[in-house]
Amino acid sequence: MKTNFAALRRRFPVLAHKTYLNSGSYCALADTVREAIEAYMDDRLAVGANWDVWITKNESVRSLVAQLLGVTPDEIAVTASASAGINALASAFEFNGPRRKVIVSDFEFPTNAQIWHAQERKGAQVVHVPRAADGYIPLEHFERLIDEHTQLVAVTHVCFRNGARLDIPGIVKLAHARGARVLLDTYQAIGALQVDARSLGVDFIVGGMLKYLLGTAGIGFLYVRQELIESLTPTNSGWFAQENIAAMDITANRPSPTARRFEAGTPAVVNCYAAEAGLKIVLEADPAQIESRVRALTARCLQRLVEIGWPAVTPADDARRGPMVAVPTHDPAGLFAQLMEQGIVTSFRDNNIRATCHFYNTDEDIDRFVAVLAGQRAQFAPIS
Ligand SMILES: Cc1ncc(COP(=O)(O)O)c(C=O)c1O
Repeated sequence: MKTNFAALRRRFPVLAHKTYLNSGSYCALADTVREAIEAYMDDRLAVGANWDVWITKNESVRSLVAQLLGVTPDEIAVTASASAGINALASAFEFNGPRRKVIVSDFEFPTNAQIWHAQERKGAQVVHVPRAADGYIPLEHFERLIDEHTQLVAVTHVCFRNGARLDIPGIVKLAHARGARVLLDTYQAIGALQVDARSLGVDFIVGGMLKYLLGTAGIGFLYVRQELIESLTPTNSGWFAQENIAAMDITANRPSPTARRFEAGTPAVVNCYAAEAGLKIVLEADPAQIESRVRALTARCLQRLVEIGWPAVTPADDARRGPMVAVPTHDPAGLFAQLMEQGIVTSFRDNNIRATCHFYNTDEDIDRFVAVLAGQRAQFAPIS
């Protein structure tokens, strides 16, 4: 069935008065997400501690994330953030054997490099895969560095700085052929791109709910491929990670046989309400249809930018980009403020303005953004 994106767009009140191109930082707020948070508040007033319902909310988030990734709920840990998921996973790794290397790319969000560097105390050796002269990281660069000493390749799906998408199936093939595992940080992709864990072939995935999954901050997930779960025992643990949460046994650590072993303490209940509502919208809109719409929007944006003589740094190749278009400028804060003044919400990193698209954006949003940029070109385009 064809998704009615115009009807869905009406459920995001901010879009009536802003050109919102900032989902890669924080999504627009949907009516049902707001209602879900209010429902939690109502519950607090009416019932107080409504644990029976709250636990079902956490389980619902687990199931919806599993549905989105095409895996089973037992392969999903609901975490407080992507960082919490990576930390729990890292705590289960040993680096005292022949496989001490962790390969990360120069496109990583800080957390997915810093946490692996933090494992250096345990013997890890972190190796960074550099970019090529054109700014992209081709597969050959991974090929040179992944070897028989590599335990893990920890890579972002889409770069938060420039919107470039890595060749994940290619990286997985290389890593698996050399006996290494792959962790995918899909935070800048999931919800806007289809992320099918099985067809990507990755071993682990982390992400969170405040961007393209339309929920809120303070909640994320970790996927662990079924075959690997019981071989990994995290030292980063807690009572919600135990096989029997209700056991209250203080004499031993008995991790859950499922990916719940990567969880820790009491779930962030209010965040579960918001995350559940956001995930339901993404699934209702259909990730495959979302991806083609987002691809068309970013392609339009790239083309229009070329037409005004201010090309983006984001790769034009469909396979090499996600939902972000990054526009270079010598004054990102100044240009961001100008856009904001004209009702266009973006964000900036390094020397780029980041315009990030979701299904609720339209061709008109893109054309407005580019028209405003055209008017600012003399002042803000890179000085060559
Ligand atoms: C690629 C990527 N990974 C991770 C994060 C943040 O993760 P956390 O949930 O730990 O704050 C972000 C947030 O901007 C991100 O863009």
